[in-house]
Amino acid sequence: MEESAQSRPEPKYYTPNPSYREKSWMGDYSWTYNEFLKDPEQFWDRIAKKLHWFSEWDKVKEWNYPHAKWFVNGKTNITYNCLDRHVLGERRNKVALIWKGESEDDERVFTYRQLYREVMRFANGLKKLGVVKGDRVCIYMPVIPEQVIAMLACARIGAVHSVVFGGYGAAALNQRIVDAGAKIVITADMAIRRGKSIPLKHTIEEAIIGAPTVEHLIILRRELRTPVEIHSEMEIDFYEVMTDVEPDCPAEVMDSEDPMFILYTSGTTGAPKGIVHTCGGYMVGVYYTTRYIFDVKESDVYWCTADPGWITGHSYVVYGPLSVGATILIGEGTPDYPDAGIWWKMVEEYGVSILYTAPTAIRMFMKMGREWPDKYNLSSLRILGSVGEPLNPEAFEWFYHVIGKAKCPIVDTWWQTETGMHMITTVLGEPMRPGFAGKSIPGVIADVVDKTGKSVPPGTSGFLVIKEPWPAMMRTVYNNEERYIKYWETIPGCYTVGDLAIKGEDGNIMVIGRSDDLIIVSGHNIGTAEVESALVSHKAVAEAAVIGKPDPLKGNTIKAFVILRNTHTPSDRLKNELFYHVRITLGPIAIPSEIEFVDSLPKTRSGKIVRRVLKAKEMGMDPGDISTLDE
Ligand code: WTA
Repeated sequence: MEESAQSRPEPKYYTPNPSYREKSWMGDYSWTYNEFLKDPEQFWDRIAKKLHWFSEWDKVKEWNYPHAKWFVNGKTNITYNCLDRHVLGERRNKVALIWKGESEDDERVFTYRQLYREVMRFANGLKKLGVVKGDRVCIYMPVIPEQVIAMLACARIGAVHSVVFGGYGAAALNQRIVDAGAKIVITADMAIRRGKSIPLKHTIEEAIIGAPTVEHLIILRRELRTPVEIHSEMEIDFYEVMTDVEPDCPAEVMDSEDPMFILYTSGTTGAPKGIVHTCGGYMVGVYYTTRYIFDVKESDVYWCTADPGWITGHSYVVYGPLSVGATILIGEGTPDYPDAGIWWKMVEEYGVSILYTAPTAIRMFMKMGREWPDKYNLSSLRILGSVGEPLNPEAFEWFYHVIGKAKCPIVDTWWQTETGMHMITTVLGEPMRPGFAGKSIPGVIADVVDKTGKSVPPGTSGFLVIKEPWPAMMRTVYNNEERYIKYWETIPGCYTVGDLAIKGEDGNIMVIGRSDDLIIVSGHNIGTAEVESALVSHKAVAEAAVIGKPDPLKGNTIKAFVILRNTHTPSDRLKNELFYHVRITLGPIAIPSEIEFVDSLPKTRSGKIVRRVLKAKEMGMDPGDISTLDE
C-alpha cells in the first residue's frame, strides 16, 4: 500500500507571478497561517466581523467534543449578507447572476436588486403556503435562476432546504424527501439537456408516493405552449406562489446554530446521509474561502460549473460568491453541447475571470483536443479552480497550459459536503505542485495519520484527517447522530475524512482517493450500497456487489457483479433491463458501465461482501489477505 515519494522524480513546481500574492486578499500564506495558529478564535472573529450580524456572538467557539458551536448566540441571516448588504450598499445595480441556457439566445440576467426582489416575493409566497422557520423544503430542479431563488428564499425565512440533484431518479428522491420530512417540494416541469426536454414531473409524482409530510408541490412551468397540468389540491405554479404577496420580506433572525440546510451525500451503508449545516459558521466559512481562496475582486466574473444541487454549488455557486458580491455565471448546458467549444465560448463572451470546475470535465476536454479552447480568446481568465476528485498531473498540466496559458494559478481545492468549505489547497502565489492539492488553508489543521492518529512520515500513505473544528463543519447527520459521532471516533481526536492521502516532504498533501465504499464517477459520489440495493430491488437479482474501476476519463466507472435468483438466467436482455432499472431508481449518474453475472461473491464469515477482492481480481492484482474470507 505504501508509496515512496523518494522513488518519484524531483518534484516539479509552478510558481505564479508574485503579483498574485501581492494583490490578493490573503497575502502571504505562511504569515496568515501563523496568525491563525497564534490565536484561532481571534482569526475567525476577525473574519466573521466582516459580515452583517443582527447581534454579535458571546463566544467564537464552544467545543464539546465531538460537537462544536460557532459564534455562540450570534444572530444573522445569510441572505442579508448575500442580498440586502449589496442592495443597501454599492452593488444595487451590479449583475448578481447570469444564466445561460443551451440555445444561443437563452440568457437571463439579474442585478442584485432584481434577485433580491424575486427572492423576497418567493419567500413571502412560501410563507403564504404555511412554511415556517425550521420546516424542510426539498428543491429538485434543473440549473435555472429559480433554483437559486428557491434556495435563497428558504434561507430568507429560515426554512431548511434540502436540494436534490435534478439527475436523481424517483427512488433516490423519495428517500431524501422522506428522511427530511419535507413539507414542500419545489420542482420544474422539465430540464433541458442536449436540445431535448427531460420531463421531471412524473418523477416527482412517483417520488412523493409514501411521503406523507409533503403538503404542496410547487412547479415551475417552462414549457408554455402545452403547460403541464396542475392538480390544484396539492400543486401550485411557481409564479402563482409569487403573485399577490408583499414585495418586502425582511430576513428572519436566525441563531448562529439554527440549521440552515440539509444536503444528502452518498453513504457507505445503504441510506444517504443528510449532512446538516448551520447558519452562522457555514456563512463565515464560505464567505472567507470565496474571498480569500478565489480572491474575488469587484470586477471579477465568476463561473463555477457545478450544479447548485451539490455542495460545490451551495457553497461556491450560491452562498459564497453572493456573500462577497460577485457576478456569477450559471449554465444549464452540457460541456460538449452543441460542441466541445461551448464553455470556452462562454468564457470569451462573458469575460469569465475565475473558472472553477472538476477534473472529469478537464479530462473530457483533453480528449476532445486543444483546438476547441484555442478557437476562443481566454485572456479574461485569471484564476482556475478544481474540485471533486484528484486533479492528476496530466490534467493539471493541460488546464494550466492550454486554458490558463501558463499564467493563471490553479487552486485545486480539497473539501467535502461535510466540511462545507475549502480545507486544503495551494493559496494564490504559493508554488503549485501538480498532483498535490496543497496545504491546509489558514483556519484549518489537516494531517495524514495512521489508525491511531499519529502523523505518518512524509511519502507514506495514511488517512486524511482534520484535527480541530472549523466554522463550516457539519453539525450532525439528520436523524442519525450516531453516524455523525462516527466521523469523530474512527481515529481518536480527529475528524476522519474517509480519504487516503500522502504528505510530501514539502508539506503538500496528495489526495489519493476514498478509503471507503464510495465511488466517484465523473465527480459524483455514488455509494456502492445504493447501487447494490437498487439492483437487488429487481425481481431477478438475488445479490449484487459493486466496485469502482479506474477510468481515464470519468475517474471511475461502476462495475456490478450480480447473482441471479434461480428463476432467472443470464442474458443480454436481462442486463439491459438491469441498467434501465438502476436508471429509473437512482438516476442516470449511477448506471453501471458493466454488469457481470456470477455464481458467488467473496464474503467474510459474517457475510459481508469483500469488494476489495473483486476489485483486485478485476484489475489483475493480488487480492491481499483473504484468510478471513468464507470458503
Ligand atoms: C473528493 C465535493 C482530491 C474526496 C466538494 C472527498 C477530492 C470527496 C478533491 C467529497 C480534490 C473533493 N482532490 N479529491 N481537490 N475534492 N475530493 O462531498 O474524495 O461531493 O472526500 O464534496 O470528493 O465529495 P463531496
